[in-house]
Amino acid sequence: MELLLIQSQEHDKLPLAELRAVLEVEEIETDIKVVCPGIVLLNSLAEDKFDEYYQILVRRLGYTHEVHQLISTVEYESLEDEVVSIDWSEFIKENFAVRVKRFDSAIDTVATERRVGHLILTNTDGISVNLTEPKSFIRAVAHQNTVYLCYGKYQLNKKYFEIMKPHKRPFFHPGCMSPKLARCMVNLARVKEEDFVLDPFCGTGGILIEAGLIGAKVIGSDIDWRMKRGAATNLDYAGVTDYRTCVVDVRELKMYEEVDAVVTDPPYGISTTTCGEGTDGIFKEFLSSIEHSMKKDALLVMASPDSLDIDSLLDDVGFVLLERYSIKMHKSLTRIISVIAKIH
Ligand SMILES: C[S@@+](CC[C@H](N)C(=O)[O-])C[C@H]1O[C@@H](n2cnc3c(N)ncnc32)[C@H](O)[C@@H]1O
Repeated sequence: MELLLIQSQEHDKLPLAELRAVLEVEEIETDIKVVCPGIVLLNSLAEDKFDEYYQILVRRLGYTHEVHQLISTVEYESLEDEVVSIDWSEFIKENFAVRVKRFDSAIDTVATERRVGHLILTNTDGISVNLTEPKSFIRAVAHQNTVYLCYGKYQLNKKYFEIMKPHKRPFFHPGCMSPKLARCMVNLARVKEEDFVLDPFCGTGGILIEAGLIGAKVIGSDIDWRMKRGAATNLDYAGVTDYRTCVVDVRELKMYEEVDAVVTDPPYGISTTTCGEGTDGIFKEFLSSIEHSMKKDALLVMASPDSLDIDSLLDDVGFVLLERYSIKMHKSLTRIISVIAKIH
């Protein structure tokens, strides 16, 4: 069976990298086909696991906007015949809406929505159209002259990343990252449910929230007690219950248990303080202290400013770089996201 994903195009590599990481950690076997920027097909998904995989992707992914079951792929000229040949009662209960999305395609979206909707309606018993709150959602994705007819069984919570923006949480401090990037970093760290995830520069708790919401047990520490308290307030607000927060200087961090992943955004000395230590110094001390708190296969996913030479810092400690992405934030800041493993 096949899934079609509509991905964000706000970054050229992260949405796909995040998807690959989730497929890997959730052990979802599939062939990935990138149709064009923004459309990805997951082919050959096991039928008996299809629903489970579908729900995992909907629940976890940050840089993916929609996930749908692919029903059929057809050239635009044959669309009407194809629509008539499908047994829609398998997908539509009570009422439905058809929505068309175009990628590099000249097809008329409104006319196609109306035509496909009309054909489904006249060929299926006992259903009606409901454009405002449809019980069943049919998505047609057009890329050039090809149309992918899909069924949206599970919907991503599109509003989540909007309503959880840092300034909308009860505790705010400048320098927080967006929840979408925080979610992506947690996914890049291959975090599983029940894993122990540590953020030793937890700030307002943005990364902890995203790890907690996908079922991890989260531990956050920060040198500043106001951040520790604020992170706990924000975790409560997000509904994360399995967490611990403490006040610790990362240079003195000693964990009782080794963690499965470290996901963090250390201070760059721009809007968050490095507490008197230079940016190089804080990263260096962090890297040499954190290794002992990580399990053998644990990954470290870290944000850093592009002005910092991470490679030379990694050379000095027992880590190896696996993946790297750069994100231009604004004129004076480009963030680097590094996925780092321990050298065994
Ligand atoms: C960039 S902020 C983290 C932002 C966080 N990701 C968020 O969403 O709010 C960096 C944090 O590191 C903390 N910090 C600075 N020096 C530290 C140290 N030596 N040990 C632990 N935390 C430190 C600061 O108090 C600040 O809250």
